[in-house]
Amino acid sequence: MEKLLKEISVDGYKAYSVPEADVPIKDPGKILEDKLLRKKQPGLPEISEAELNRHFTRLSKENYALSTNFYPLGSCTMKYNPPVNEKISKLSGLANLHPYQSEDTLQGALEILFELEKNLCEITGMDAFSLQPAAGAQGEFTGLLIARAYFNSKKEKRTKIIVPDSAHGTNPASAALAGFEIVSLKSESNGILNPAKVKEVLTNDVAAIMLTVPNTLGVFEKDILAVEEAVHKNGSLMYYDGANLNALLGVSRPGNMGFDILHVNLHKTFSTPHGGGGPGAGPVGVKKFLADFLPYPSVKKSSEKYFLNYNMPKSIGRVRSFYGNFPVLVKAYAYILASGAEGLKRVSEQAVINANYLLSILGKKLNSPAGNRCMHEFVLSGKDLTLNGVRTLDLAKRLLDYGYYAPTIYFPLIVEEAIMIEPTETETKAALDEFAQTFIKILEEAKTDPEKLKNSPQNTPVTRLNEVEAARKPILHW
Ligand SMILES: Cc1ncc(COP(=O)(O)O)c(C=O)c1O
Repeated sequence: MEKLLKEISVDGYKAYSVPEADVPIKDPGKILEDKLLRKKQPGLPEISEAELNRHFTRLSKENYALSTNFYPLGSCTMKYNPPVNEKISKLSGLANLHPYQSEDTLQGALEILFELEKNLCEITGMDAFSLQPAAGAQGEFTGLLIARAYFNSKKEKRTKIIVPDSAHGTNPASAALAGFEIVSLKSESNGILNPAKVKEVLTNDVAAIMLTVPNTLGVFEKDILAVEEAVHKNGSLMYYDGANLNALLGVSRPGNMGFDILHVNLHKTFSTPHGGGGPGAGPVGVKKFLADFLPYPSVKKSSEKYFLNYNMPKSIGRVRSFYGNFPVLVKAYAYILASGAEGLKRVSEQAVINANYLLSILGKKLNSPAGNRCMHEFVLSGKDLTLNGVRTLDLAKRLLDYGYYAPTIYFPLIVEEAIMIEPTETETKAALDEFAQTFIKILEEAKTDPEKLKNSPQNTPVTRLNEVEAARKPILHW
């Protein structure tokens, strides 16, 4: 593991040189008050310039990213993020704006937000958006507050949200946070919803059903229209968790399937990579009859001028300071413009093809509970490995030794020893083949040398950590 700066420090070394002063040097002790003077040396590391350069270069090589390796992380969609989008979001005219500037000086930024909203409406089939929510889960929460405000305005008491077990884990959490009671619904063994079972739980106090499409098993809800008919007949709303929209771009629109409210994870579908807790954006889209309840302000245009509309008496109010995570919104807009309609469709097609290609190889080696077809990601069960005492965790750790980022494991909860794989749409066939061969090699090792897997990883800066302690008691400084 790379040593700390203070561990490579040698007294007297330095990595800087400053020109001789061209003004008389004064003693700080004579010009500063005593309380401002340091009593002890600051204890800064002393390092030569070459060593300092090497230290940071070595550290930079320990970063893991799509620009260095294959990233098969399921559920979190490690989207290719063209560096040009980073550049665009950092243009000084965008990066140096201040949210307290007057609208007159923010016309360009407001136009970006206005146009992004229009594009998202077109892509999803919705009528209006709010770009405020800063994450998918916050989008869910916002969407559910809108559902609540809608039923309150109609004086209808609807207190329940139906959430299938194939939905993302944040769905029930967001519904509970928004004050709803959760009605859990079991999906079929292939992860698909049975409309007859939906009808059984559709009582007249149900506000909405929250569906993740494609769901957490990576499959499309083929009976979605039958579900929609039953839900709307009951006076309830259809909520679409659009974090997996990556699989549907330009092919199918949630708005056309009858969804009333949705959120989109821009940081999963449109350029900004997910993970590491970085900034995200979870815009919420609604059908026209719900538009008045969206958070304020909304961006509007009158003649040639953009403005922020605060005159929304039915709005649920703000859900975030200012106007959302602006750079993430800029990147998404740049990605949409650069791809164009055809390009976005190809993104989805390629994501689906790549995932199915890997599934066609790996699905022969481990059980695939949802069958041999998937959308942009798929789930395998490592249950058979446990016969040798090897767990999915060990498989994922061993992949690190071969230079791969570990796939998502133990999610979704409905699959025993789950391992969830999602190749990025930009991967070549050769890269997918190499990953598949490595995966198969590890499955062989699991049979012939299970201890090797249990003691992996060995080639990483740190080997196996105590996962619980690392999460509960992280050591973040020395
Ligand atoms: C299907 C689905 N829904 C919701 C979320 C929550 O999004 P966020 O992590 O931005 O809160 C995720 C996260 O990746 C997701 O995969």
